[in-house]
Amino acid sequence: MVMNLNNKNEILKRANFLLRDGIKNRDSLFHTPIISTLNDKQISSRVMVLRDHNAAKRIVRFHSDVRSDKISELKINKNIAVIGYDPNLKTQIRLSGLAKINHKNNLAKKAWNESQAISKKCYSVKDGSSFKMEKPELYDFHMKDIVVEEGYENFCTIEVHYSSLEFLYLQRQGHRRCKFTWNKQGKLRSFWLVP
Ligand SMILES: Cc1cc2nc3c(=O)[nH]c(=O)nc-3n(C[C@H](O)[C@H](O)[C@H](O)COP(=O)(O)O)c2cc1C
Repeated sequence: MVMNLNNKNEILKRANFLLRDGIKNRDSLFHTPIISTLNDKQISSRVMVLRDHNAAKRIVRFHSDVRSDKISELKINKNIAVIGYDPNLKTQIRLSGLAKINHKNNLAKKAWNESQAISKKCYSVKDGSSFKMEKPELYDFHMKDIVVEEGYENFCTIEVHYSSLEFLYLQRQGHRRCKFTWNKQGKLRSFWLVP
């Protein structure tokens, strides 16, 4: 793909392309970015699978267990950041914004219905993600013992409504770093940053 790295519009298009591609392309490291939340004043980060990107609405979506620590953290503080770097593409993308959790609503139902059984089964695990337990082997999956659809109770989506997107591309002759921000009215501003 030929792109003009001195043009901010082209860079935003490239970022949007990579975020869309990361949903299905398991070879892209944007498929599994790192999501950070705040646990009181401590940062907590974890890898999650990118499930959707809506460039027009500036939303990326992830799926999780509503019983997990990240959800408790987000209920207290909605601030959330996403970062991914793909060494083959020599590109880093950072997003930051506010999280919205969908649990047992129409959006959660739609995402659940679009999920495969292999993904759904995680949500049937007893006690739930982040529960402290003694014997890990007691929590192994046995498909025959679970009713996959019961996991819906524990399933939620995390929508990251981002108001900032930063793109960094590494190249020998000079890196390119560009930041895009949107105000509350959705008005875009963009500026170059020294890499
Ligand atoms: C490759 C990979 C993909 C993962 N995808 C997800 C995911 O989509 N959703 C999720 O909740 N956890 C996912 N995890 C597990 C999280 O990294 C984390 O361990 C777990 O969600 C508990 O995090 P918490 O205690 O901060 O809530 C993934 C881990 C790896 C290594």
